[in-house]
Amino acid sequence: MELVTTREELATARAALSGTVGVVMTMGALHEGHETLLRAAREQADHVLVTIFVNPLQFGPNEDFDRYPRTLAADLEVCRRAGADVVFAPSRDEMYPEGEPRVRVNPGRLGEELEGQSRPGFFHGVLTVVLKLFQLTRADLAFFGEKDYQQLTLVRRMARDLDVPVRVVGVPTVREPDGLALSSRNRYLSEPERAAALALSAALRAGVEAAEQGRDAAGVLAAAHRAFGAGTPGAQLDYLVLTDADLEPGPVSGPARLLVAAWVGNTRLIDNMPVRLAPRS
Ligand code: PAF
Repeated sequence: MELVTTREELATARAALSGTVGVVMTMGALHEGHETLLRAAREQADHVLVTIFVNPLQFGPNEDFDRYPRTLAADLEVCRRAGADVVFAPSRDEMYPEGEPRVRVNPGRLGEELEGQSRPGFFHGVLTVVLKLFQLTRADLAFFGEKDYQQLTLVRRMARDLDVPVRVVGVPTVREPDGLALSSRNRYLSEPERAAALALSAALRAGVEAAEQGRDAAGVLAAAHRAFGAGTPGAQLDYLVLTDADLEPGPVSGPARLLVAAWVGNTRLIDNMPVRLAPRS
């Protein structure tokens, strides 16, 4: 496995890879969820390229950029174990040599909703760095976790709308045995906060079960809200919504997505699950 930190080194390492290249973009602090992305890339592409970069553009002024976990040595070990060929871990100056870019990708209306409403500018920052990394890595396939479902949806849309020659592959969320979705931010949680954080997955599971029992959209949402409130106190709901599979509002039947965001102490957590609503009679 080769570690590269500059564009020139990346270009040289990339040129040496023949066949298809799958990229897994990360901000480091790698966990089992990332390992699943790496395994999917290993299975579906001839070579795996991992990027590790804590992207300042996607953090708001009061967010956790400074305290975001940086664990490069451990991350490289995860990449090596998972069979990555190349890891690109650039510095901030390498990615943004002229400071913050004045031109950014506009994520459109969906970028202002859900996560975008609570975190203004977040998806401009995400899509800008993802597009830059698409250009720099020239990957054929890109693997993104369904845990960040809005990010996955917007990256797919960007690739389609802007003709980026990459196939975006969504990979299902990895969970702890008790249901908590794996996230680099889970390491901020104290023990009581971790217990409170289970409200998110409990709400989603309740919604999925309600849908399986044939409840309509309103019934699914009501069940999810009840389960969220019934958990260990300490999670403050930001949103709990049911959309269609492309995050358009108001599904009445068929494939849908239930999404939740909540604050637990100073940590903001998100989660989502697919839901199938019964056809309307
Ligand atoms: O999901 C993440 O870790 C980040 O948003 C990404 C895609 C690496 C862009 O910085």
